[in-house]
Amino acid sequence: MFDRVQNMLQTMNRIFLIGYMGSGKTTVGQLLATKLGYSFIDMDTHIESKLFKSVSQIFAELGEQQFRLLEHQCLHEIAEFNNAVISTGGGVPCFFDNMKYMNEHGITIYLKLTAEELTERLEGFQANKRPLLAGKKGKELYQFIAEGLAKREPFYSQATYYVSGEIESMVSEVCEMVKSDNPSRKVL
Ligand code: S3P
Repeated sequence: MFDRVQNMLQTMNRIFLIGYMGSGKTTVGQLLATKLGYSFIDMDTHIESKLFKSVSQIFAELGEQQFRLLEHQCLHEIAEFNNAVISTGGGVPCFFDNMKYMNEHGITIYLKLTAEELTERLEGFQANKRPLLAGKKGKELYQFIAEGLAKREPFYSQATYYVSGEIESMVSEVCEMVKSDNPSRKVL
């Protein structure tokens, strides 16, 4: 019994933000961490600083498969932190058993935006962080996002909570939800 309660408390103190590239995980995560007094961890930044290489360089030099392995290892390292908001890379939930692992080690929150909203936000993206989108614009970018999102949706939809809308409203929704201390599955 004590173990279960202990585990639940630890789980509640770790928030994984998931969602497609451009959904606002980093911005929401930073604001949320400040509001909750938690530390903020960005998985891409964590990997980049460990390897002294940008995500783009890792993709180019080691390949996507190796990057996915690095993400998997990184997830296990940072899931040790308590009182933390963790912004995951857009592909993290879709490889290995990462989604299951995150659900077992924290609260997962899906920042659910439409392909139209994501395209608008990703026009002018930073190519060094998003090699998968490099060279894509307009209609081509939209199509890539719409197809990718459809493939990833079955993973993202395993999240405990979903939020959508503008950054500020997502932050307050998540804050309310965390403070309400309700560990049951809920779709906002
Ligand atoms: C990726 C998302 C990126 C980064 C890499 C791959 C993906 O992170 O990890 O470019 O596969 O969706 P963001 O979601 O923070 O852009």
